[in-house]
Amino acid sequence: TSYETILTETRGRVGWITLNRPEALNALNSQVMHDVVTAAEAFDADEGIGAIVVTGSERAFAAGADIKEMSDKTGLDMLMGDHFGAWGRFAAVRTPVIAAVSGYALGGGCELAMMCDIILAADTAQFGQPEINLAVIPGMGGTQRLIRAVGYYKAAELVLTGRTMPAEEAERAGLVSRVVPAAELLDEAGKVADTIASKSLPSVFAAKAALDAAMETSLAEGLRFERQAFASLFDTADQKEGMAAFREKRKPDFTGR
Ligand code: HXC
Repeated sequence: TSYETILTETRGRVGWITLNRPEALNALNSQVMHDVVTAAEAFDADEGIGAIVVTGSERAFAAGADIKEMSDKTGLDMLMGDHFGAWGRFAAVRTPVIAAVSGYALGGGCELAMMCDIILAADTAQFGQPEINLAVIPGMGGTQRLIRAVGYYKAAELVLTGRTMPAEEAERAGLVSRVVPAAELLDEAGKVADTIASKSLPSVFAAKAALDAAMETSLAEGLRFERQAFASLFDTADQKEGMAAFREKRKPDFTGR
């Protein structure tokens, strides 16, 4: 499949999505949303894919939702057109998604990174929710996911002032999984993705689902979900294989069954 605004590629068991609107610093217009969601769902439906990487360019992961596309809309247009709703489908893929962020991750760009499971940042990365400077607010999760990542006070400062924070600060705050030198970002993202893709798929899906549950529900509910998911994995052949391999001091050979 070919897309208008992204490049896709399969390397081994990893699906790569590269945002490709350099003229707009990868601003997320409706076409980008459509392309990214379609590509992510296609990878998600493919048993041969065990992890997805989303990345941008050296200069920008994504500089936000497309301001030019939305500047003339009314409030009703924004609601009825559901300009951002489809991103929920991206956030809902079963397969772990790694955001490899270099340069600007602002507004919707920061929010897209936060829909991913792991955020690897180049030391050049810049994160922020500058919507307040446009007299609006984050609209793709920036007030909700950011608080869960960095806590209320850090999130409130960022959302209310619109200031941008560098990769180091984002890592300290807990928004970023790890910072790496810019030149190593894609290699490192590939390694992390390969590692995840080498595991047994049912256990990877269960782990992501349980982690997601922690973001959404009470501790008691989450623990119940975790216990169920944990137990269900004991009915997979891969669990028998993984534990047998440990006892026989050899590498496991997983089939995803
Ligand atoms: C549309 C954008 C854009 C955006 C950059 N461009 N960001 N177009 N939407 N979000 C375009 C510029 O207009 C310009 O095109 C080209 O990309 C290069 O950008 P420059 O501004 O010339 O680059 P630079 O001077 O290096 O500044 C980089 C920047 C700045 C600091 C990232 O572009 C910037 O502040 N962008 C907007 C950041 C922002 O406010 N994001 C939040 C958007 S609101 P032309 O053709 O004009 O030269 C949002 C809401 C999300 O994300 C929630 C959904 C409701």
